[in-house]
Amino acid sequence: MGHTRILIDTDPGVDDALAILMAHRQADVVGLTIAAGNVGLAHTTANALKLVETMGASTPVFAGCAGPLLARPPQDAAFVHGLDGFGDIGYTPSARRAEIEPAALAILRLAREHAGKLVIVTLAPLTNLALALRLDPELPSRVARLVVMGGAVTGRGNTSVAAEFNIGFDPEAASIVFSAWPQIELVDWELTMRHGIGFDTIARWCAADDPRARFFDAISRKTRAWSQARGRRHLMLADPLAMAVALQPELVTRAQEHHVEIALHGVARGATLVDWENRSGKAPNARIVSDVDQARFEALAASAFGTD
Ligand code: RIB
Ligand code: CA
Repeated sequence: MGHTRILIDTDPGVDDALAILMAHRQADVVGLTIAAGNVGLAHTTANALKLVETMGASTPVFAGCAGPLLARPPQDAAFVHGLDGFGDIGYTPSARRAEIEPAALAILRLAREHAGKLVIVTLAPLTNLALALRLDPELPSRVARLVVMGGAVTGRGNTSVAAEFNIGFDPEAASIVFSAWPQIELVDWELTMRHGIGFDTIARWCAADDPRARFFDAISRKTRAWSQARGRRHLMLADPLAMAVALQPELVTRAQEHHVEIALHGVARGATLVDWENRSGKAPNARIVSDVDQARFEALAASAFGTD
C-alpha cells in the first residue's frame, strides 16, 4: 500500500475525481498537474484544489496550459461534467492555491526527484506532457511507467467519429507524446465502454458515510443523470479504469503491443491509428490494454470511498 509514486495529469472532471480519490487511497500521489479539457483551466484547477481539500490531503496542484498547443477552439465536455466540471453544485472554493510552478516544469522536476520510480498517469489532453517533452526529451528515461487514458483503438470515437476526447482536444500534443515515448500503457475509450460500472453499484458507494463519498455523490449526480437519460445501463469511467491499470497492472488480463500514431489532418483528426498488422515496420510504442478483471477494477474504485 502506498509504495507506488504517482503523478497525475488531469482535467477534473467527474471521472477524473474518482481516479484521483482512488490514487490517494492506494498510492503516494506526488502531485496533480492540471490541464484544460473537460472545462477551462480555471475550473479544472479549482476542482483539483477542492478535491485535495475534501480528501484532507496535501498534494500540490500545478496549473498547466489553458488550451491546446495550436489555438483551435476545441469543444469542451461541459455537457457531460457540468459547466464547472464538477456538476455545478456551487461548492465553496478551497482556500488552497495552486503552486507557482507551471505543470510542465513540475513534471520535469518530479521526474528527476523520483527518477526511475515515478508512474505518470494522464487523464486529460496531453498538452502539459508534450510541453515537458519538448523542454526535456530525456524525460521518458526517468519515468518508470506512463499510463495514458486516451484514444479509440478501432476508431470508435466519443468526441468525433474517430477521435476520443483527450486526444481529439489536442492532437498535436498527443502526436508529440506518442512519437517520443518508447512504451505507453494505453487505456482507450473502447475498453472503457466494455467495462462500465452499474449505476446501482455507484449509488451504493456514494451512500458511504464518508466525506469523499458525499462529495462524489454531489458532483457526479448530473453526469449520472445525463448518462442514464441516454439509456446507458452503466457509467463509463475512463479515468478510474486507467488509474486501476496504473495501481494494479496485474488486473490487466489481455494486452498487445503495436505502433500507434495520431492522425492530425482531415476527417480523422485526433484518431489513434493502430498498426494492428505491424505493416509499418515501426517499433511498437503502445501496450494496448484490451481486457481487465472487472471485479478487481470495481474493488479498486470502491476503495476510493473507504468501502473496500
Ligand atoms: O474520453 C474520456 C476522457 O475525456 C476522460 O478523461 C474524461 O475525463 C474526459 O476528459
Ligand atoms: Ca479526464
